[in-house]
Amino acid sequence: MNKLLAIAGGATLLYAVLAVLMGVIPGIELSRVPPGPGVGPLTALEARGREVYVSEGCAYCHTQQVRPLPLDEVFGRPSAPGDYAYATPQLLGSERTGPDLSNIGARQSSEIWQYIHLYDPRAVVPQSIMPSFRWLFEVTDEAPQGLEPVPVPKPYAPAQGVVIPGPDARALVAYLLSLKQAALPGAHGDSAARAATTAAAATSMAATPATPAAPAATAAASSVFDAAEGAKLFAANCAACHGAQGAGVPGVFPSLHANPAVAASDPSEHIGAVLHGVHGKSIAGVTYAAQMPAFGPMLSDRQIAAIIDHERTSWGNHAPLVTAQDVAAARAKR
Ligand code: HEC
Ligand code: HEC
Repeated sequence: MNKLLAIAGGATLLYAVLAVLMGVIPGIELSRVPPGPGVGPLTALEARGREVYVSEGCAYCHTQQVRPLPLDEVFGRPSAPGDYAYATPQLLGSERTGPDLSNIGARQSSEIWQYIHLYDPRAVVPQSIMPSFRWLFEVTDEAPQGLEPVPVPKPYAPAQGVVIPGPDARALVAYLLSLKQAALPGAHGDSAARAATTAAAATSMAATPATPAAPAATAAASSVFDAAEGAKLFAANCAACHGAQGAGVPGVFPSLHANPAVAASDPSEHIGAVLHGVHGKSIAGVTYAAQMPAFGPMLSDRQIAAIIDHERTSWGNHAPLVTAQDVAAARAKR
């Protein structure tokens, strides 16, 4: 009898000690972590959106935790405890049927893209297996005052009427756009590296004002542009809207085949579009409701040059190439 008591009591005690060590103490420690830079409480609308995220089961397919692995670099920087200061219970997720969403507000900042994607993911990502969340939208004859209809591409739009985001869709998209990772202090971020290259380019230009880069050097630099890097960066940053093959989505995101800015031998408009974004510009007679986000703050001069050169040499385009120096010069102008 005593033996039995000792075994049962010992096991219970061991269990209790392990529970405190592995569950309770780390929990208390974590709750003391101060919020990371740029991390604040959610607005009422974003908090409502977070509830929709939970109730629609988004976390069954999406994580919100970036691991410190090369595999995860496309999603953002590795997650830090301070990122979750206002996000309890954390929606870490364990299945990645779809991409990690820790930084989706920065990676895909277009509200219109998010609405179209939720309404029918195939409309913007043809091979997507994500379910449509049409019940978050209403189809009405006309858009009510103050609400913009979602520009769903023709083949995916209802036969009649316009698509209006319902209150849950608006809250959910507000929440998704709030998911942004700020740079951690001391992290050797891309922006620091870029500031250095931009400064170097600026000083070298200032030091040798009378001798512009020798044409031979520029030609050499352009001919060694890294095509694989350009294609990879295009797929990661641009294909969501412009399509993997640059064909766009008619009426919603412009095609980059024979686009005047892409085809022009003077690349300033092309570079400016990628650096600073585009809004309200009529392209081949079409004005677009969505805007083209600015990539200047997110990508280095070298990366932007690689993407631009990818566009200038793909899908039947044959325009002169640009260099990282061209992008640095355009960046410095504004
Ligand atoms: C059955 C799994 C599944 C569910 C449930 C799901 N998704 Fe997805 N999601 C995916 C897949 C797969 C992709 C990648 C293809 C694509 O972009 O559509 C994706 C892509 C996304 C993207 C774009 C990510 C990027 O990096 O471009 C967002 C945003 C997104 N989902 C949000 C949501 C939200 C919000 C919900 C809940 C309302 C949700 N998803 C529910 C599978 C899912
Ligand atoms: C969120 C969707 C979205 C993403 C992501 C996106 N674009 Fe765009 N892009 C647009 C829209 C919308 C327009 C048209 C804007 C307008 O006319 O007002 C556009 C226009 C353009 C144009 C034409 C500019 C002109 O002056 O004619 C180029 C070139 C371009 N994008 C390149 C890129 C590149 C390169 C990337 C990736 C680094 C990219 N886009 C990512 C939506 C997007």
